[in-house]
Amino acid sequence: MKLIIAIIQPHQLEEVKDELYKVGVNLLTVNEVLGHGRQKGVTEVYRGAKETGNLLRKIRLEIAVNDNFVEPTIKAIVKGAKTGETGDGKIFVLDLQECVRIRTEERGSLAIG
Ligand SMILES: Nc1ncnc2c1ncn2[C@@H]1O[C@H](COP(=O)(O)OP(=O)(O)OP(=O)(O)O)[C@@H](O)[C@H]1O
Ligand SMILES: [Mg+2]
Repeated sequence: MKLIIAIIQPHQLEEVKDELYKVGVNLLTVNEVLGHGRQKGVTEVYRGAKETGNLLRKIRLEIAVNDNFVEPTIKAIVKGAKTGETGDGKIFVLDLQECVRIRTEERGSLAIG
C-alpha cells in the first residue's frame, strides 16, 4: 500500500478528480494549503492567488492506494494537473503501513478501496 500526496494548482482540481475517477480512484482527501516551489512564489503571479508573503494557495490531495493503483493514480494526476507552467505541482509516494475501515474493522487492501 502507498500513500500518494499531490500538491496541485487549485484551478486544476476538477480536472484531476475527473481523471482519477476514470481510472477507478474514488476515495480522496483534499486540503487547501499554502506553499511555494523553487521559484519561491515569485514567478507565479499569473493565475495563482497570492495568500501571504510569497506563499501561494495550493491544493493537497491524499490518496491511499493498493500497489497496482500507484502508476494509474500518478498518471491521472499528471494528466489532470499538467499545464506546462511552473507551479504545476508535485507528487510524493510514501509507503503505507496500515489502513483500517472503522465501520467494518477491515484492514489493509480490503479497507483501502
Ligand atoms: N520539495 C518539496 N517539499 C515540500 N513541498 C514541495 C516541494 N516541492 C514542491 N512543493 C509544494 O508543491 C507546490 C508546487 O511546487 P512547484 O510545482 O512549484 O515545484 P517546483 O519544484 O518549483 O517545480 P516548477 O519548476 O515546475 O515550478 C509548492 O507550492 C509546494 O507547496
Ligand atoms: Mg515552482
